[in-house]
Amino acid sequence: MTNQTKNGKRALVTGGAGLIGSHITDLLVREGWKVRIFDNLEPNTHKHGQPPWVNADAEFVQGDMRNREEIGAALRDIDVVFHEAAYGGYMPGIVKYVDVNSLGTAQMLEVIREENLPVKKIVVASSQAVYSEGAGECPEHGLVFPNVRPVEQLRAGDWTVRCPICNAATKSVPTPESAPVGGETVYGLTKVDQEKLVLLWGKQAGIPTVALRYSCTYGPRQSIFNPYTGVIAIFCTRLLNNLPPVVYEDGEQTRDFSFVEDIARANLLAAETDQLDGLPVNVGSGKGVPIREVAEQISDALGIPIPAETKGEFRPGEMRHLTSGTERARAAGYQPQVDLAEGIGRYLDWIRTQSDVKDYFSEAETLLRAKGIVHSVAK
Ligand SMILES: NC(=O)c1ccc[n+]([C@@H]2O[C@H](COP(=O)([O-])OP(=O)(O)OC[C@H]3O[C@@H](n4cnc5c(N)ncnc54)[C@H](O)[C@@H]3O)[C@@H](O)[C@H]2O)c1
Ligand SMILES: [Zn+2]
Repeated sequence: MTNQTKNGKRALVTGGAGLIGSHITDLLVREGWKVRIFDNLEPNTHKHGQPPWVNADAEFVQGDMRNREEIGAALRDIDVVFHEAAYGGYMPGIVKYVDVNSLGTAQMLEVIREENLPVKKIVVASSQAVYSEGAGECPEHGLVFPNVRPVEQLRAGDWTVRCPICNAATKSVPTPESAPVGGETVYGLTKVDQEKLVLLWGKQAGIPTVALRYSCTYGPRQSIFNPYTGVIAIFCTRLLNNLPPVVYEDGEQTRDFSFVEDIARANLLAAETDQLDGLPVNVGSGKGVPIREVAEQISDALGIPIPAETKGEFRPGEMRHLTSGTERARAAGYQPQVDLAEGIGRYLDWIRTQSDVKDYFSEAETLLRAKGIVHSVAK
């Protein structure tokens, strides 16, 4: 008996041509699911149209989350929705984020309810970007949830994260799901919308839902054309073009990195267990790595010894430190398998097979400054 006949569950993976969605698709197909991909092939991400990694054993439907008929048709005969489609990164738009992420998700939920579709579960891609700042430890007050750092402070070149009660400098600690959510960028705000819409709708409709708050995710297939998102992809394309990776602030800010196959496994787990139903769940490595160190690891792995460049710039609303507190996911059986060194190696193996590795960042940089996404420290 093949897997196909053993499982037979039907999944819709929105954004299934993208980084995370395509790896979820591959995993589900291997596990014997019937998979339909729904993706509009966003030109920023898919410069050459449909990518070659779209799984041939899945059904591919080109369509847009903003189109009610298209998403309605794609949702027919689906048991589980993995909702990955989103407009992401630090792009200058405002309306498009709200349109694709917030309205697109609202519309999908409304269609399921209005048409009484037999969807049994929705797993939505949320993000660590829903937090305002990573949790901190204050010498006086213990675990605290600092506010986003004021722009005036950043403009003065002061990157410190302070205790919201006594203003003392805090030490970064893993952020639990109970930390306040807000979203300090337009993207972050719309990820909050997506996860809240899905979780509260699920409670109303009596359909189990899970919101996975992914940490920075990377790996083979991460777009090499999009200069606005994916720090590892951007650093790689810069170095391969003999240009220095550009690091904001002082490079000592930390992020938690997840290899894309681990994120795909977390999705399968969320679909199969009921332990996470109704909850937001951090998915990450549980380790914070300074951004400058990431640049160094990539430059070492590539054998291109160009140090990262710090230009006295910062992005308002950006967190200083974020490490995912992963107890909830681990208690349900989540165990990341690929560490950063191995993951970077696997990404580089893939990028070497790509023919069009250009630098799109230089041009984007000028735009990001002009639109106020990137600011400079006052001289
Ligand atoms: N990569 C990360 O670091 C990260 C971190 C946290 C959360 N996420 C979330 O995970 C999800 C997947 O991200 P990814 O890294 O795979 O990004 P990606 O850009 O590689 O994939 C997103 C896919 O969605 C598609 N898409 C975009 N707009 C669409 C629309 N209007 N209609 C239909 N399809 C559309 C794109 O064509 C793309 O194939 C997103 O929801 C993202 O917000 C990603
Ligand atoms: Zn304090």
